[in-house]
Amino acid sequence: MQRVFSGIQPSGIPTLGNYLGAIRNWVPMQDTHESIFCVVDLHAITVWQDPKELAAQTREMAAALIACGLDPHRCILFVQSHVHAHARLAWIFNCVARLGWLNRMTQFKDKAGKDRESASAGLYVYPNLMAADIHAYHAVKVPVGDDQKQHLELANDIAQKFNHDYGVEFFPTIEPMIQTVAARVMSLRDGSKKMSKSDASDQSRINLTDDADTIALKIRRAKTDPEPLPEHVSGFEGRPEARNLVGILAGIGNTTPDAVLREHGGKGFGAFKEVLAEALVAHLSPIQAEMNRLLEDKGALDAALRLGAQRAAAIAEPIVTEAERLVGFLPR
Ligand code: TYM
Repeated sequence: MQRVFSGIQPSGIPTLGNYLGAIRNWVPMQDTHESIFCVVDLHAITVWQDPKELAAQTREMAAALIACGLDPHRCILFVQSHVHAHARLAWIFNCVARLGWLNRMTQFKDKAGKDRESASAGLYVYPNLMAADIHAYHAVKVPVGDDQKQHLELANDIAQKFNHDYGVEFFPTIEPMIQTVAARVMSLRDGSKKMSKSDASDQSRINLTDDADTIALKIRRAKTDPEPLPEHVSGFEGRPEARNLVGILAGIGNTTPDAVLREHGGKGFGAFKEVLAEALVAHLSPIQAEMNRLLEDKGALDAALRLGAQRAAAIAEPIVTEAERLVGFLPR
């Protein structure tokens, strides 16, 4: 079975974007691939996180992933900081990656904003740690949302340079797996910005924990234009908000925007938003109930994560130790 790796930051409550773009696609992989999923707390602290909140959010993220269908017995689910191999390989990759490569990363530019001088050094080398996450397992497939594509290209550049510099074929080429429907879920307030757990406005996103009234209100208030829904996807041109809401319903219903428009094309947004809110509530409420149930027994959740870390370390430890040997580090 091919090995799959993916990660998610515990920097807030998972959003509908995380769910449709990533988490939901991880679930079926448990049956077809050797699947490794990680709550990436080292990545989260590249921007300030309140320590108490970070700990709570790390647990909540693990509970959310299990509630969405990840089964700690059928996949390896763990917390990044629990497996030291990630940080060790990331340091080696900091010395392999070139500044010019990192300077091209659009996510750093977006996240650092105008005041780049005050961004953390960790935010700058974020993609090197991400490359280490994947290569520490010799994983070959990485299911992510569209926004991570550039980071995965960099992970391949790093592997290639490592292999070349040390004259080995050690790290394999990785392949991104990006869904076609809902690969980039946009903000509900601005169709040109991606939906994000760290956006200042809670109205911009659906959190997996939002209750029925909150979901209905956020969808009702979602930005749209005055025209009715187009009859065909070609009518999305210049209408990013319409494209986004239709994409969300297609994602939730496991169908295509074309099929959604065949059913709802020509309707006004008022009527369509009601359908969308109802579908979201029906889809998310069982997940929320399961997440709350899991969070009632923190001991059991922590035990599952500890076991996940042991299984992850058993794979990553020999690979990273070999990378250290190739670099010329003296054996411990
Ligand atoms: P994070 O936590 O920002 O996002 C987790 C996953 O959710 C996807 N995603 C989206 N998909 C569609 N629409 C959106 N609006 C949206 N927002 C987020 C992301 O593409 C991602 O797949 N850097 C990674 C975490 C990571 C990682 C890794 C991923 C760390 N190490 C190794 C893969 C392999 C990230 O963006 O997390």
